[in-house]
Amino acid sequence: MADTETRTGSESDELVFFVNGKKIVERNADPETTLLTYLRRKLGLTGTKLGCAEGGCGACTVMLSRYQIHTQQLLHYAVNACLAPLCSLHLVAVTTVEGIGSVARKLHPVQERIARAHGSQCGFCTPGIVMSMYALLRNNPTPKMADVEEAFQGNLCRCTGYRPILEGYKTFTVEGGCCGGRGRDNGCCMANWSGAEESSEEDVNESKSLFSAEDFAPFDPTQEVIFPPELMSVTKVQRSASLCFRSDRVTWLQPDSLDEFLRLKWEHPNARVVVGNTEVGIEVKFKNMVYPVILAPAFIPELNEVRHTEDGVAFGAACTLSHMGALLKQEVETLPPHRTEVFLAVLEQLRWFAGIQIRNVAAVGGNIMTASPISDLNPVFMATGCKLTLMDKDGSRVVPMDAAFFPGYRKTAMRPQEVLVSIEIPFSKRTQFVSAFKQSPRREDDISIVTAAMSVTFAPGTDAVEDLRLSYGGVAAVTTLATATAKKLLGRRWGEELLQDACSSLAEEMTLDPSAPGGMVTYRRTLTLSLFYKFYLTVLQKLREQGVKVDAVRPDCLSAADVYHPETPSSIQVYQAVPEGQCQGDAVGRPMMHLSALKHATGEAVYCDDIPLYENELYLGLVTSSKAHAHILSIDTSAAEGMPGVVCCVFAEDIPGSNATGPVQYDETVLADRQVCFSFFGQSGDSLRLTAFPSFLQVTCVGHIIGAVVADTQLRAQRAAKAVRIQYEELQPVVTIQEAIAAQSFYQPIRTIQNGDLDAGFKQADSILEGEMHIGGQEHFYLETNVTLAVPRGEDGEMELFVSTQSASKTQVLVAKALGVPANRVVVRVKRMGGGFGGKETRTTVLSTVVAVAANKLKRPVRCMLDRDEDMLVMGGRHPFYGKYKVGFLGSGKVVALDVSYYSNAGNSMDLSLSVMERALFHMENSYSVANVRGRGFLCRTNLPSNTAFRGFGGPQGMMVAESWISDVAQSLGRPAEEVRRLNLYVEGESTPYNQILNQITLDRCWDECLSRSGYQQRRAAVDLYNRQNRWTKRGLAIVPTKFGISFTAAFLNQAGALVHVYTDGSVLLTHGGTEMGQGLHTKMVQVASRVLGIPCSKIHISETSTNTVPNTSPTAASASSDLNGAAVQNACEILVKRLEPYKIKDPKGSWEDWVRAAYFDRVNLSANGFYKTPDLGYDFESNSGRVFNYFTSGVACSEVEVDCLTGSHKNLSSTIVMDVGHSLNPAIDIGQVEGAFMQGLGLFTMEELCYSPQGVLLTRGPGSYKIPAFGDIPTQLTVSLLRDAPNDKAIYASKAVGEPPLFLASANFYAIKDAVAAARWESGVSGPFRLDSPASCERIRTACSDRFTKLCPPAEPGTFTPWSVQV
Ligand SMILES: Cc1cc2nc3c(=O)[nH]c(=O)nc-3n(C[C@H](O)[C@H](O)[C@H](O)COP(=O)(O)OP(=O)(O)OC[C@H]3O[C@@H](n4cnc5c(N)ncnc54)[C@H](O)[C@@H]3O)c2cc1C
Ligand code: FES
Ligand code: FES
Repeated sequence: MADTETRTGSESDELVFFVNGKKIVERNADPETTLLTYLRRKLGLTGTKLGCAEGGCGACTVMLSRYQIHTQQLLHYAVNACLAPLCSLHLVAVTTVEGIGSVARKLHPVQERIARAHGSQCGFCTPGIVMSMYALLRNNPTPKMADVEEAFQGNLCRCTGYRPILEGYKTFTVEGGCCGGRGRDNGCCMANWSGAEESSEEDVNESKSLFSAEDFAPFDPTQEVIFPPELMSVTKVQRSASLCFRSDRVTWLQPDSLDEFLRLKWEHPNARVVVGNTEVGIEVKFKNMVYPVILAPAFIPELNEVRHTEDGVAFGAACTLSHMGALLKQEVETLPPHRTEVFLAVLEQLRWFAGIQIRNVAAVGGNIMTASPISDLNPVFMATGCKLTLMDKDGSRVVPMDAAFFPGYRKTAMRPQEVLVSIEIPFSKRTQFVSAFKQSPRREDDISIVTAAMSVTFAPGTDAVEDLRLSYGGVAAVTTLATATAKKLLGRRWGEELLQDACSSLAEEMTLDPSAPGGMVTYRRTLTLSLFYKFYLTVLQKLREQGVKVDAVRPDCLSAADVYHPETPSSIQVYQAVPEGQCQGDAVGRPMMHLSALKHATGEAVYCDDIPLYENELYLGLVTSSKAHAHILSIDTSAAEGMPGVVCCVFAEDIPGSNATGPVQYDETVLADRQVCFSFFGQSGDSLRLTAFPSFLQVTCVGHIIGAVVADTQLRAQRAAKAVRIQYEELQPVVTIQEAIAAQSFYQPIRTIQNGDLDAGFKQADSILEGEMHIGGQEHFYLETNVTLAVPRGEDGEMELFVSTQSASKTQVLVAKALGVPANRVVVRVKRMGGGFGGKETRTTVLSTVVAVAANKLKRPVRCMLDRDEDMLVMGGRHPFYGKYKVGFLGSGKVVALDVSYYSNAGNSMDLSLSVMERALFHMENSYSVANVRGRGFLCRTNLPSNTAFRGFGGPQGMMVAESWISDVAQSLGRPAEEVRRLNLYVEGESTPYNQILNQITLDRCWDECLSRSGYQQRRAAVDLYNRQNRWTKRGLAIVPTKFGISFTAAFLNQAGALVHVYTDGSVLLTHGGTEMGQGLHTKMVQVASRVLGIPCSKIHISETSTNTVPNTSPTAASASSDLNGAAVQNACEILVKRLEPYKIKDPKGSWEDWVRAAYFDRVNLSANGFYKTPDLGYDFESNSGRVFNYFTSGVACSEVEVDCLTGSHKNLSSTIVMDVGHSLNPAIDIGQVEGAFMQGLGLFTMEELCYSPQGVLLTRGPGSYKIPAFGDIPTQLTVSLLRDAPNDKAIYASKAVGEPPLFLASANFYAIKDAVAAARWESGVSGPFRLDSPASCERIRTACSDRFTKLCPPAEPGTFTPWSVQV
């Protein structure tokens, strides 16, 4: 390889690397290609998934291995393939999920155990999780649970609730008893371990184990794939070499020496230095940055060196954070404690810095040089006076990391030709104390809201401050020092007076513009004080430990200074065993593994975008509106059309059929159109380029699809789509519910359910109270974004679509409508989805129709998988709700009258908003009997993307408001909330506000079991005691019921079909109308068919859902798919059983295959259709009569939390859930649904926040800014119990629907938080009901715990500023 200096023209080096043991020599390595794209598109290794492209979900995790020459060691580490530049992989071995095992070959224990422990549902996250675990085991074959938890900090799963994954992988750990394959005296560990507690003797009918670890293949680390020997020898020979890779846009230069690096930087001062690419990768992907020259110095020895100096340890700028952390840990273990205060502060920040995949590649230099105001390390470096060595071709200089180093937002004081060579982190002094803090919405893998580091040095033997540095991130455009405050405190004694002055001074110094980017201004300001208080307490304790005379920390304040350490969660799952005597082969009621689980774990499960490319396939990029409400003045496609690879643009004119679309009403357009949206004007035509329209296209939300660009590759299509220039004339948008109310911007009708006599009820009441609550929306965050592949079939207008959708038939109908062909020409096929949660019920058609139009125009296959940010922008989510209530109640707490109004933010089209609101109204009383009631529902028409179905479908919002008024009632009476809830709970035979009599109600049984399993009364006493003993941390407890109506509220949807073919070899192909999105529907359907046909599940196969096998299907939604499709499958199978009966009678000793063959030769039809419709449904709003629901699924949850009143963080200490799912068809799947829904609810009510600008722009568009619960958020103790002996006579095999009902139970955590906040407020002298909106984010919690610190940071007067984000 030649020196990079001598390069000319387009010469590129060969990139040599190995993938799964196979050598790859890439002669045209493109610096802009990521490893993920290369694996999926070039090598066809589609097991590695794309979930976000920003390092935030872990779906793309692979393991890299390198031979390190200087240590002569192999290094294995997990990375995010979506951020790893292909060019960084020279002489690296890549291991993907395909490389460690397969169903056909042999599964790796890491793959087998996650599958058998029920740790996969949709399976889209599974390969990434498998690879994180695999990489951990390659480095440490006998990890502790804490290591496992750390390994998963960078992985997300939206389905499982994480518990089963941890449970399955516990078997590899020391705690799980794993011997790492070495064996023990009594054999291998696996022989003695069982997944959960054994059934207790007294409960022979109760089962507590969902899998048996004894079935697992043993783990033998000596059998791992070896590092390619050829790669080792090549590495030794090549040692280091400078490299150059070029594409038409970018040159990647990898110098092999510091001199060469400095020279290149001198020649290319604007070149981007890339080490981990975790910052630059994001800039290129999401901020459209192009860096023509990239310098990759990762292997320059000086930049990787770690040196001990007189004052500390110097780390080369390219040292990864993982490496730095490991070395600092060693220092801490060997040095005296007083010398390692700074190191400990760095380690504290590294604990919560991204996930392990990022820390494995991200460099310390990258963090410094990014100069982010929310860098987690820079405050520590600044507060502790770290020194930076900078160099250019002419020499070096050492500068302190101080306020001057960051002159402005994302700027440093370095000269363009300079590079950062190293950073020296100092030893601490004997009298120096250092702390670091990070406050973020989620603890794991999250960016900071405020981050801080504080260092104080005392005059020896005293508490007189000699030096004080308080450094903050997140409170200015740069990492900043509170110099004025520090100056004021110099020489002062460390005591209460200093604390007060420090706080007043910080409140003055750390001001923030109320419109500051990032919002949360009051909270951020309060945090600067609260964190200082924590530091104050910590130092006070340390001074006392050193024998310095200072005030003692009050015992009730001690917990405020505790550093958070996660506890390994434990869990119990309880379910009813199948009745004694049930035939072994009968799978119904058994915890059978998801039928695709093994394939999920090996990456062999095929998702829509895994389908290999068609030969002449094209890719589509969407052109969407950047304005919430505007006329389009012109569209200029010239730049886009001139870009390489671009085939054409697509606009409304290209739609041969109708542009009007929508799932219920045709009130949307496939592509923005003046004719549909804006009355008639103009011709359709070819003059879109630089056309000033005499009248206007109109867009009604940011993300409104205007058109599309089709090109030969994804990258080119997306780039070209961004190059389409659109001029807008902005109109006033309506963004929030409150704005819609003010403008009376509502869709019709306004629904009302009224029962009893409201006036009489309020008259009867002893007290009346009013309240209100806002419940934020929620992003579905299915790990697989929306994707469609449309393939024109070339004759009669036929088209085949592969879609990730819950509604195959709806897609078929709307595509046919847009193409102007009958529905019989369109076939929609759905193999599986990587999660749906309602988000793929109707909104998928928004993409599918556009892709179909493009495919039709070009007569070529066209594919589009949305990027995560596009998906979040375009697709809408759960409706935000605002509820206003007036409630009348007796002195006993019995509620006698309720008047409630709901307002939902429906967005720019109706979609399913009316049905969502109806379900909210059907759940307005949750589980409480209220005699006199009126509920009204208003659908706010706004300029947001249309909101849509989301697990629970309005029910959770309806019930959330109910729980708000019931807890207000309890608070205003000063009575325990659980007593008031229990008092009002429905009893058998009572009637709902919509006049449905409640039969077979099990709420009371669930309630009592939950009380006893959770040990509620003892917990309550312990919580109260804890709260008396702690001022700044408070615990809270709540028990909440749910009753969820099962059926589509639109009666006609309650139907399903099935088609069963029996082939002559006895194998059965089963098809039904439901789609598989991870919920295990196909598995349950096979269980049902297996029971009816009397054959093992292994003989039955479900290939896919398709519109040409079972037509006119209802969407897979409303939790009812097992009920509906199960009954249809049963019906079809019974028909077949009947047809086979004569052959069975004739040959009773024969086998299934014998009977099938005999029937075939007798010319019997071995194919049958099944059908089912739920009887007796049909509700009428006018008369408030008719049955809405077939039955109800009930449950109760009790949760305990601990709130840090100073930061607003909380810990989920314990949750106990009792759920009535009837006779479970499959307890493993049902418990998976309960846990997954509960965690999704936990996100909804305590964490997930969508931020919109006042102009209606979604600001949170990926896992970096939108936080769903992670592994670390599961309750420390989690118990899930399926209610025993609760058969349901209204659904298949006495089961009950389970998908949605448990979600609301996570509100127990919200109300437990509210309980804790109430205790904190009480300490500040505030009592009585108070408003807490959902989610109970750390900001809301902190602000609600009003105290001396919040008082110092009053919020700016509303109306005097434009906030960064608004509550929509
Ligand atoms: C999912 C995710 C989570 C994250 N979480 C956190 C977090 O919790 N806390 C946090 O603080 N940050 C976080 N980050 C930001 C980022 O990971 C860090 O800033 C990281 O340290 C950057 O290092 P890198 O090597 O990947 O940088 P790169 O992207 O390779 O480079 C970043 C910048 O540094 C410059 N640079 C790098 N080395 C040198 C050098 N030697 N001389 C001159 N310039 C140089 C580059 O030119 C570039 O501008 C996160 C990022 C992602 C994607
Ligand atoms: S796709 Fe790479 S982390 Fe999400
Ligand atoms: S199984 Fe984890 S995201 Fe679906």
